[in-house]
Amino acid sequence: MPETTSAAPASGTASTRRRQLIAGNWKMNGTRASGVALAGAVADMARRNAPPCDLVVCPPATILMAVGGRLAGSTVSFGGQDCHAKPDGAHTGDIAAPMLADLGCRYVIVGHSERRADHGESDTAVKAKATAALAAGLTIILCVGETEAQRDGGQATSVVGSQIAGSLPEGAAAENCIVAYEPVWAIGTGRTPTGGEIAAMHGHIRASLRKHVGEAADRMRLLYGGSVKPSNAAEILALDDVDGALVGGASLKAEDFLAIAAAARKP
Ligand code: PGA
Repeated sequence: MPETTSAAPASGTASTRRRQLIAGNWKMNGTRASGVALAGAVADMARRNAPPCDLVVCPPATILMAVGGRLAGSTVSFGGQDCHAKPDGAHTGDIAAPMLADLGCRYVIVGHSERRADHGESDTAVKAKATAALAAGLTIILCVGETEAQRDGGQATSVVGSQIAGSLPEGAAAENCIVAYEPVWAIGTGRTPTGGEIAAMHGHIRASLRKHVGEAADRMRLLYGGSVKPSNAAEILALDDVDGALVGGASLKAEDFLAIAAAARKP
């Protein structure tokens, strides 16, 4: 099974034991035709030249079914970009976690900074969505990250620590929870933190997670996201405590997405 993490290390971060995961966040892009073509290209390239990591794509909800159909039998998993906190009910326009599971999704992104900003999602709201996703059997990709002003003000680690404390759901474990560190100022801007800044934040996130989930934190995968592209992927994916990437813009081109995946650490 591609998604399983390896056996629990006795101690330490044991980063080489965590199989890396590259997830594509397609955001609000794609029609049935273009989405199926992109998914098909990703699946075909991954079959011809298997990358040393797990692959996930998160298309818009409108094309999940079509993309899921194209990915059937491939090594590429798929997921949603958001879900509601309730399993069903009077919530016009929203999508419930069990509906995503029903389509064959294994993953769902929760707490992306664009949803936190565009839809005013608080940590409490994100936690409720994450809880619903776990109840539906999905693996969450829980996003955290500071704004530029917060980093400039020296608050990056405290902001991210409080986002983890406020949005990590009960029952989060290495098998059902992936945390993505996405500094808001690096998303879609072409700017990235230095390798040292990413490694330091990921170390901080893992230490925070240990307080909440104990040793499971050492097996939990931590992704970096924000302007990951083929030219910087190898450097980022080689960093301590980086267990993959959440890729936006570059995931819309199969060649770029697979080039990033090819740079993953060998398990
Ligand atoms: P980007 O987006 O790769 O286009 O910066 C990342 C994300 O928002 O997940």
